[in-house]
Amino acid sequence: MAMDIIEKNKTRMAHLSENSAELSKQVDSLDWDELTSALNECILPKEETSLPAEYGPASYFPLAPETAEQKILYDKAFRHGEFLIRNGKTAAFTVAGGQGTRLGYDGPKGTLPVSPIKKKPLFQLFAEQIHGLSKVYEVTIPWYIMCSPLNLEATTSHFEEKNYYGLGKENLKFFAQGVMPATDFEGNLLRASQDSLALSPNGHGGSLKALIDSGSVADMAKRGVDHISYFQVDNPLVSTINPLFIGLHDLQQSDMSSRSLTKTGPFEKLGNFVSIGDRVTIIEYSDLPEEKALEKEHDGRIKYRAGSPAIHILRRDFIEQFASGKIKLPYHRAEKKVTHIDDSGNLINPAQPNAVKFETFVFDALPLAKNPLILEADRLEEFSPVKNMTGVDSLESSQFDQIKRAKRWLSNANIKIPESSTIELCPLSYPSELTILNADLNHIDWNTDQIYITQK
Ligand code: UTP
Repeated sequence: MAMDIIEKNKTRMAHLSENSAELSKQVDSLDWDELTSALNECILPKEETSLPAEYGPASYFPLAPETAEQKILYDKAFRHGEFLIRNGKTAAFTVAGGQGTRLGYDGPKGTLPVSPIKKKPLFQLFAEQIHGLSKVYEVTIPWYIMCSPLNLEATTSHFEEKNYYGLGKENLKFFAQGVMPATDFEGNLLRASQDSLALSPNGHGGSLKALIDSGSVADMAKRGVDHISYFQVDNPLVSTINPLFIGLHDLQQSDMSSRSLTKTGPFEKLGNFVSIGDRVTIIEYSDLPEEKALEKEHDGRIKYRAGSPAIHILRRDFIEQFASGKIKLPYHRAEKKVTHIDDSGNLINPAQPNAVKFETFVFDALPLAKNPLILEADRLEEFSPVKNMTGVDSLESSQFDQIKRAKRWLSNANIKIPESSTIELCPLSYPSELTILNADLNHIDWNTDQIYITQK
């Protein structure tokens, strides 16, 4: 019973905080009801699986229109998306509260230098893209950045030092998401020190409530923003504000829309988009039964091929529904290594995961969304996350993909680049491929602030 674990924790913490007013204060302010839910959902054994009884692969809009009718719709949606952007109806939103444990970088992940030549940090690449688009559409695009209590200060200092990358302090809003205490595998609270509990960010799902609690949603309402373009801090290729996506989302009156990637194989580690009636949900790769993962269409393509790169558009009034606390996202169990002190005060530095962090995921809002829409994305164009330093989804692979994409954009604009060169485009000048195609590139001044190239 979760209540037994809670009572045990209360007694143990009362004892441990006898000599620490700070710990006692922290324990008193814990949301025990929330912890009870988390324990019920993540620590106590579950009898049945949480998969929906009946589901099928979710349908999605393909990358490029496949019929004449779809072509008309895409053209209309693109124009509509541009109209919404130009009229200040859209905001950018980055979730940057994660701890980036796989990367092992000392500092907020957004400050990691990632571009291949100029070594611009992730935050700078997004800032320049947003700035570039705001120039194209002659509008201010506000940018909301969710941090955690652990990295809020370092993040705001970074932006302050960089003079907010020219976006204007008033158009950026930083705020911290909520935290949850970490426990051992039996649900016993862990202490980071004699005077504090081990706390960790409550997952990117915490963003919905944090957007409300921080006043960001109210700020958006004041500015007339209706749609929030959600992306993660680790994907330098992301299209921060995408007219086609925004247009389709609004034309379909969708509460929450998503981009999808065609999975490279049945077991690629991406969440799977599935439909339950008229709603959409995501089944994590580890939960999709093998026989489902292997199912094929008549044409040989796998059925469950739409995977999630965690790129969404959320309608502001959809997020407002989370304000009352009546709608809640479920907790997921994340087994992680958490350094802590034991009850005798010894520091424990585990080599293996030893603790449970309780996290909510933003995609769990999808089944609550009316008229959900999914638009396929081209992986090479829009997705290359930096999760690790080397190997898969790493700084190395992402830089390779950034260079490839820059070459492709230039080649599509009929500019020949030697295969052996390294190339980087400045997102301030070229925030999208369209801006390259529309530019007068007859007089390219290499190594200006627009295009950098190094020959090998
Ligand atoms: P990840 O799942 O990659 O987690 O987050 P992470 O903490 O960044 O990295 P690892 O797993 O410890 O190596 C995906 C996105 O969600 C954000 C991250 O900042 C990233 O943009 N996130 C994650 C939050 O904003 N808050 C969280 O509590 C967790």
